[in-house]
Amino acid sequence: MVHGGMAGLAAAGVHVPAIDLSTTNPVNDVRTGGDSYESLAGGHPLKEGDSPVYQRLWQPGVARFESALAELENAESAVAFSTGMAAMTAALLAAVEAGTPHIVAVRPLYGGSDHLLESGLLGTSVTWAEEDQIAEAIRDDTGLVIVETPANPSLDLVDIGSVVTAAGDVPVLVDNTFCTPVLQRPIDHGAALVLHSATKYLGGHGDAMGGIIATNTEWTMCLRRVRAITGALLHPMGAYLLHRGLRTLAVRMRAAQATAGELARRLQTRPEVGQVHYPGLAGSDPRGLVGSQMRGGGAMIAIELAGGFEAARTFVEHCDLIVHAVSLGGADTLVQHPASLTHRPVTATAKPGDGLVRLSVGLEHVDDLARDLFTALDAIRDAA
Ligand SMILES: Cc1ncc(COP(=O)(O)O)c(C=O)c1O
Repeated sequence: MVHGGMAGLAAAGVHVPAIDLSTTNPVNDVRTGGDSYESLAGGHPLKEGDSPVYQRLWQPGVARFESALAELENAESAVAFSTGMAAMTAALLAAVEAGTPHIVAVRPLYGGSDHLLESGLLGTSVTWAEEDQIAEAIRDDTGLVIVETPANPSLDLVDIGSVVTAAGDVPVLVDNTFCTPVLQRPIDHGAALVLHSATKYLGGHGDAMGGIIATNTEWTMCLRRVRAITGALLHPMGAYLLHRGLRTLAVRMRAAQATAGELARRLQTRPEVGQVHYPGLAGSDPRGLVGSQMRGGGAMIAIELAGGFEAARTFVEHCDLIVHAVSLGGADTLVQHPASLTHRPVTATAKPGDGLVRLSVGLEHVDDLARDLFTALDAIRDAA
């Protein structure tokens, strides 16, 4: 994490990567420039001595971030995009281009991913399946199986290995945003593609948006080609910040995870809380995926408030230190009501419950967070 993507710095006489803002790059001559264009637009990596030609084809800071994340995910390479949704869009367009536009997906997914699949906007169609219905949902034109584990916002776990077996020859895409490679490496369990909203833990400070897919060489070429054609690029400044975020990813994840585990246990003691969803809690993981697939329960918690929507509203409005905002994975703790916000576009029958609130646990002291959460729960009690 500290050294990935940092090759060649000492030889260049610098300690951190330079931010190259060039949108275009001089070419040596028409013939070699044209060859470089064709090679890069076709999805090949930059060759030694070639001009990058144009930022939409190749960007050195983006390539550094990609190589660091690929190494962490145990992938051959990675392709970065302007957002997590742009990364998801590119994967779906690649499936459409291959003539396999049918997608099998397990709910819940992040509300934006659910919305994109349900809309069919990109020419895909979707069959929503339970984990044990994947094999029967697959058709001749199925291009991808998509899962998220732990899932946003319920923290449900999916057994990646068994999904890969059920999918057979169909590539499995795992959204690994909640775990990061610190806690889970889906490729080690047979997944073909690992997607991140880099906006979250990878960047880690809530100040840069990005998306990235770690995968094999063949998919990498398709995704680079889609990116060159459609243009959903990661800006060099964003690439710099996201790459910098990787350097502290392990210590941030471990610290936030320890705090989340402690908060989950403390929240269980309160009568206003109907259920705490947290993969690390005793009894929450009958298949033992925490420990085999995941190294710990992560730093996201969902709590089901017994008082439904009114209790959820009171709760988020009475958090003070904890900010009421969407997104996750930053240094500070955030709380939000998925049915109203992140999962608003999801069809009514699949929408999260009205009493569910989601917490992204950050790096504050556990006692400060517990005090804030308990004050908000007191407000529910006092309003009853
Ligand atoms: C699990 C997950 N995947 C994908 C996304 C989409 O990422 P972005 O907001 O960077 O487009 C999000 C955003 O919240 C997410 O939580």
